[in-house]
Parts: sequence; structure tokens; C-alpha cells
Amino acid sequence: MHGHGSVREVSLDSVIVRPEIEADIPAVHEINCLAFESDDEATLVDRLREAEESSLSLVAEIDGVCVGHIFYSAVSVAGADSVLGLAPMAVTPALQKRGIGTLLVNHSLARLRAENWDGVVVLGHPDYYPRFGFRPAAEYDLKCSFDVPDGVFMALELKKNGLEDARGLVEYHPLFNSF
Ligand SMILES: CC(C)(COP(=O)(O)OP(=O)(O)OC[C@H]1O[C@@H](n2cnc3c(N)ncnc32)[C@H](O)[C@@H]1OP(=O)(O)O)[C@@H](O)C(=O)NCCC(=O)NCCS
Repeated sequence: MHGHGSVREVSLDSVIVRPEIEADIPAVHEINCLAFESDDEATLVDRLREAEESSLSLVAEIDGVCVGHIFYSAVSVAGADSVLGLAPMAVTPALQKRGIGTLLVNHSLARLRAENWDGVVVLGHPDYYPRFGFRPAAEYDLKCSFDVPDGVFMALELKKNGLEDARGLVEYHPLFNSF
């Protein structure tokens, strides 16, 4: 990695994606604060981590320093047993748009497929998530319990027909309501 003012080059080969451990928690909090310019998401992650058994939290690190984070927590929806919501994800601002977010999404989805989850939903940018296979959640008859614009609520099947019987309102963990 070479410094060029605030713009730094990253060799993606030097990025390790791995499950979060307890020692990462302060760094993960900081990455979320910086990326969202608010401590709301950071605090949400801290609370969900405590509250949730079915969650996945991965970090991206470079030379032992955490530079990215992705979090999933279980959502409830009729017709499917094991669906997760991807939220939030964040990359250290100076290192965004270099593919670290893509690595985090691809690693986490591979892990969730191996664990046999039915699917994932996400509230996010319609230009970003379709590249990973996400489609408008409405195509699976899924609606978000939050009032959000069309197209930003997306879903991905993690196995064949994983979301075929899923339908209706998708509800995130109650902690998202205080958000
Ligand atoms: C959203 C976020 C997590 C994405 O992480 P990221 O590491 O920046 O994502 P990527 O680098 O994989 O992809 C971002 C863009 O960079 C592009 N990109 C990826 N590698 C690149 C490279 N080597 N050179 C140039 N561009 C590259 C991608 O094509 C993508 O382009 P586009 O979306 O403009 O079409 C990050 O930007 C972030 O923390 N944002 C603030 C918090 C936020 O909004 N989180 C999402 C809501 S939960």
C-alpha cells in the first residue's frame, strides 16, 4: 500500500476477509462511524451483536488493520426459515471504491451459501447490489417493513428456490426500529 495524500492504492491480494473477533469491536465501531459520518450504524451493530444469535460479522483487514466490515442479522418473513438482512456494511473512507466492499460481499455470501441459508435481503443502492445477483425484492413478493423507495429493497436466493415460498413483509430485528 502506498500513500498518495488521502488516496491510497490497495492490492486486493493483501486484503484478508475473516470473521470478526472480540478484539476487532472498537475498530469496527470506528469504521462504521467514519463511513456513515454518524455513530448510529456503529451503535446498531454493537447492540445487534449483543442481542442476536443468528448474525454474521466479517472484517476486511490489511496488514493487521481492520479497514472494512459487513454485518448480517436474521429477518423474519413468512414462508422462509433462514433469511438474513445485510446491514450495515462499511469501508474506511480513504479506501473506498477499490474493491474491498466487493470482497466483503462475495466472501460473506459464499460463507452463507455454505451454511445453507435461504436468502439475503438488503436495503441499498440499486446500482451496487445487482452485480452480486440481488434483484428487486418485489420480484419475490417481498416487501420491506420500512417505508423505502421502490428498488432499494433487494433480495438474493442463496440456494435454488430459496425464496420461492417467501412472501409478504420482511421484518428486521426490532433494534432497527429505533434507528
Ligand atoms: C458502500 C461501501 C461499503 C462499498 O465499499 P467499497 O469498498 O467502496 O466498494 P467497492 O470498491 O467494491 O465498489 C464501489 C465502487 O468502486 C468500484 N471499484 C471497485 N474496484 C475498483 C478499482 N480497483 N478501481 C476503481 N473502481 C473500483 C466498483 O465498481 C464500484 O463502482 P460503482 O458502484 O461506482 O459502480 C463503501 O463505499 C462505504 O462504506 N460507504 C459508506 C457507508 C455506506 O453507505 N454503506 C452502505 C449502506 S449499508
